[in-house]
Amino acid sequence: MQQRVSWNSKLGLILAAAGNAVGLGNILRFPSKAALYGGGAFMVPYFVALVLMGLPLMIIEWVIGRYAGRHGHGSMTGILGLFFNHASWARVLGSIGVAIPLLICMYYIYIESWTLGFAFLSLFGKMPTPVINSDAHEAVKPYVNFFKEYTKPSIMAYFFLVLTLLINWFILQKGIRRGIEITAKIGMPAIIVFGVFLGIICISANNWKGFEGLKFIYNLNFSGITNPVVWVEAAGQIFFTLSLGMGAIAVYASYVNPKEDVIKAGIWTALINEFVEVVIGASIAIPAAFAMFSSVVIPELAQEGTFRLGFMTMPAVFMSFPLGWLISFIWFMLLFLAALTSSLALIQPLIALFEDEMKWGHTKSVSVSMIFVIIGAHFSAFIPNFIDELDFWAGCFMLLLFGLLEIIIFIWIFGMNNFYKELTQNTKIILPKAFFYVVAVVSPFFIFSILYFWVVKDFKNIVFTEEPTKIVARLFILLFLVFLSIIAVKSRKIIMRDIRYTKVMKK
Ligand code: PHE
Repeated sequence: MQQRVSWNSKLGLILAAAGNAVGLGNILRFPSKAALYGGGAFMVPYFVALVLMGLPLMIIEWVIGRYAGRHGHGSMTGILGLFFNHASWARVLGSIGVAIPLLICMYYIYIESWTLGFAFLSLFGKMPTPVINSDAHEAVKPYVNFFKEYTKPSIMAYFFLVLTLLINWFILQKGIRRGIEITAKIGMPAIIVFGVFLGIICISANNWKGFEGLKFIYNLNFSGITNPVVWVEAAGQIFFTLSLGMGAIAVYASYVNPKEDVIKAGIWTALINEFVEVVIGASIAIPAAFAMFSSVVIPELAQEGTFRLGFMTMPAVFMSFPLGWLISFIWFMLLFLAALTSSLALIQPLIALFEDEMKWGHTKSVSVSMIFVIIGAHFSAFIPNFIDELDFWAGCFMLLLFGLLEIIIFIWIFGMNNFYKELTQNTKIILPKAFFYVVAVVSPFFIFSILYFWVVKDFKNIVFTEEPTKIVARLFILLFLVFLSIIAVKSRKIIMRDIRYTKVMKK
């Protein structure tokens, strides 16, 4: 078996994994979900989901990833195959774990390109001039129009989309060490510095009125716990922000050397991500909006979608500050760096699929993967509703389902003893076995019940549609799944041939 590439250093590995997890989810998605579902009322299910599901699944994906990497697999197609003697059905099932990150990437990267575009527009003084008005609607209006013009999409938007795609392509072509790891080593410290800086500005804005925003998020209360939608959204956010339930963490873990302490790495990944979410993410967008507008409009602003907050409300706030163009530039650079280190992680599973399962060379694997990303990004840019449809199916529903599947397969089918043996290898942090018995029962039950209540309550409204653009998006998702299934079955022959060959060589 050929030597698998690995991360260059421990620090590099942790920063790469943190870069994977820290993204638009932390700085944009989290504050808008929190605002939408009542601040402190959202945070209770959020923390419950973090402990019962997020942390255990994070550790599971690291352990499984290291195990699979040792056997030459990184993508979920290969990983699930590995557990069932490379049976076709298992490989096909695993393909869902390659489809999800790529489908997410197809719209994520388009949004990433807006952040780059808006960073440049801020730097060159091309953002609209602020209207000072305590009425949020009036103050935000110029930026709403500006954003609508930009995402029509304008030529400018298209230019930055191409640039963003090229940047991702270039870094991925450089590979794990010289591409992804180096980007994270530069990006992560910058994200923290920019984030802390903006957090301080927003909380202290308007004579510390921003502080009210932080209080709103941390006014913990139980008023949300009877609403299944709040639970689904909170659990969905945990999955999304920690990059769980789709093999995006496992693929990075497959590039560690076999002796790496993956428990430590998993805990660090979660800690850094949660710092950037519940400390930095909580201190920017919502406090800024509280500082400038009356608090009654906040849920209303959040209602209009995750992106409104980032691309319309925030520039309206920042541009009204002294040196507004600079603060706005830092805001969009923060978003861009966070998004970039995540989009790399969203594409890597497909690259690993081609490299490990099809045995293609690196350049070919990267190029073919990028072609899919490019096609998907064009759909996102030119077909209305495409982004939201993908975000719902891949970014929420399939994630929960696949997360459930991961726990069942990795703990129940792999077997608690095998899992525990794998878990306790090369680590100083010994988690008690009882903990995993609890996880094995509680986490699946938790995910299953939120899915159940939510399907009962909302599914019908969501599934039935006559909107043609939504149907196009769903067909696209289906076709992509079929394509990946074909690859999963076809590549099986290559893997089986390799296994036979290794056996013969051993004799
Ligand atoms: N965790 C990233 C974020 O918070 C999104 C992501 C999901 C990245 C899955 C990689 C894999 O934005």
